Amino acid sequence: MLEEGPLDAAIHDRQGFECGVPSLDEYLKRLAEQHRRKGISATYVLVDSQARGVILGYYTLSAAELGVERLADEDGRRLPHHPVPCIRLGRLACRADQRGQGLGKLLLGCAVDRCLQAREQIAAHALVVDAIDASARDFHAHFGFRPLRDAALTLYLPLGRARHGRTRPR
Ligand SMILES: CC(C)(COP(=O)(O)OP(=O)(O)OC[C@H]1O[C@@H](n2cnc3c(N)ncnc32)[C@H](O)[C@@H]1OP(=O)(O)O)[C@@H](O)C(=O)NCCC(=O)NCCS
Repeated sequence: MLEEGPLDAAIHDRQGFECGVPSLDEYLKRLAEQHRRKGISATYVLVDSQARGVILGYYTLSAAELGVERLADEDGRRLPHHPVPCIRLGRLACRADQRGQGLGKLLLGCAVDRCLQAREQIAAHALVVDAIDASARDFHAHFGFRPLRDAALTLYLPLGRARHGRTRPR
């Protein structure tokens, strides 16, 4: 059974993770734990309950904000004219040898679920992602993320339209 939860340096083998994008591997190995302690970003990992040490994929979440003028017209229309609170999906990656099996979709669904839970206590209008390249942009667009007006690789998903429990671990 797959499980998703906070990165725990005592259990999860960060050094063994390879997604094919060196900066994302390095982040997990060298910075994720430090950033958690400093309140820069929270890292969540996906593992199999039969082999909890092996990280199958991970994502990070942080507080963020977006200028309302950067949203598409129809999304910005009824919002106050100052930056709107958001949550940033800073990183998202699956093991290179596990691609194409739905793990990216699962991780994204878990991230959205966490954001929906968080916004019950602290307001957040959208989930924002800085895609590292066109392929990552297309992946997020596939799930309804929209590009900002002024930055084609930064996309957002209005959380008011997202639903809980779409893709929880099986
Ligand atoms: C991007 C990434 C997380 C996708 O994970 P994955 O497990 O291979 O993707 P999944 O199998 O979950 O695919 C889910 C769906 O997205 C689609 N998809 C996957 N990659 C896609 C892409 N690059 N562009 C468009 N759609 C894509 C799949 O066709 C599938 O569609 P379906 O649900 O309609 O069948 C993974 O390729 C990865 O880790 N890449 C390296 C790191 C990276 O680029 N991260 C993004 C950082 S912003």
